[in-house]
Amino acid sequence: MQSKLEQLKTEALLAVKAVKDKIQLEELEIKLLGRKGGELTNLLKGLKDLSEEVRKQTGQLANEVKKEIEDALTSKKQELSVKEMSSLLEKETTDITQPSLPIKTRGHFHPNTLIQNDLEDFFSSMGFMVLDGPELESDYYNFTALNIPANHPARDTHDTFYIKGHSDWVMRTHTSTVQVRAMQKYGAPLRMIVPGKCYRNESTDVRHEHTFYQLEGVVVDKGISFAHMKGVLESVAKHLYGPETKVKLRPKFYPFVEPGVNLEVTCFLCKGQGCRVCKQSGWLEIGGAGLVHPSVLKEGGIDPEKNSGFAFGFGLTRLVMLKYGIEDARLLESGNMKFLEQF
Ligand code: FA5
Repeated sequence: MQSKLEQLKTEALLAVKAVKDKIQLEELEIKLLGRKGGELTNLLKGLKDLSEEVRKQTGQLANEVKKEIEDALTSKKQELSVKEMSSLLEKETTDITQPSLPIKTRGHFHPNTLIQNDLEDFFSSMGFMVLDGPELESDYYNFTALNIPANHPARDTHDTFYIKGHSDWVMRTHTSTVQVRAMQKYGAPLRMIVPGKCYRNESTDVRHEHTFYQLEGVVVDKGISFAHMKGVLESVAKHLYGPETKVKLRPKFYPFVEPGVNLEVTCFLCKGQGCRVCKQSGWLEIGGAGLVHPSVLKEGGIDPEKNSGFAFGFGLTRLVMLKYGIEDARLLESGNMKFLEQF
């Protein structure tokens, strides 16, 4: 039996060497080592008829032969994989001398993205982080954490899209949702902006869309005052619309700030003289702002005795309209190429 084992080994190693592909190799493995009917398995069936001494020696040889055949099969498998990979790579080579296809139309940024990028750069230069938040938001971050508990009348002004079957989830109505999220995550001091999409179930008109963009900002630190807020808001307005631009702050109630203001800038068209765009007032509203309410700071885990802050929320859509003199907000989400190709 020992010479049969030696012969099987020699033939098996030659057969492995001659294999050309993975399928042949699998077939050979079964033929040699298969549990049922494999050549080695068959040969070893005779072991039981040998004397104990010979059986021991033959058993040992059989193990060595099995190991050598298995090693040969494994290294052949690796060799075939390398060959397969290099022939694939050969087929995939790029002809770098081939001329490129002509570019018919070149894409460009949407006007919203242009203003968003510009403001991200502007605020980053003043040390603000640029953050993001979920558009499908919990009732807690959209309202409750911002000092707007259930049944508070301020909820009515937000024309909220609720999610069927999930009354505690909403499509966020403003980017203020990230105020408490950011405070909880980063604590004080904090300087951040959040540009992003918001949704309101509004009847649309030239200044209102159901889907629009806002840009939120929050600053929290020791000794932050109304004057800091006014300085930042004025510098944004001048950055966007030129050094002549004036800012007007009028008292407005927002439950999450105290005091709260309405933020207006001089009209882009009449420069403050009064025209149809600004309804003869000379001013256009671009957002809300105020000093962060102590309850909101507490909700964010910040001690209002030690820190104060301001927050603002620009209508980014409105900023874009002012910047480019767009008179109908609905054009921005319309996908109208004649309109969009102008930017
Ligand atoms: C808010 O949404 C507050 N979260 C803003 C804020 C932040 C106040 C931080 C204080 C502190 P308001 O509902 O007024 O406030 O919306 C802010 C701006 O978003 C508006 O001035 C307007 O420019 C824009 N806006 C609101 N609704 C729409 C809409 N349907 N379409 C387009 N722009 C809108």
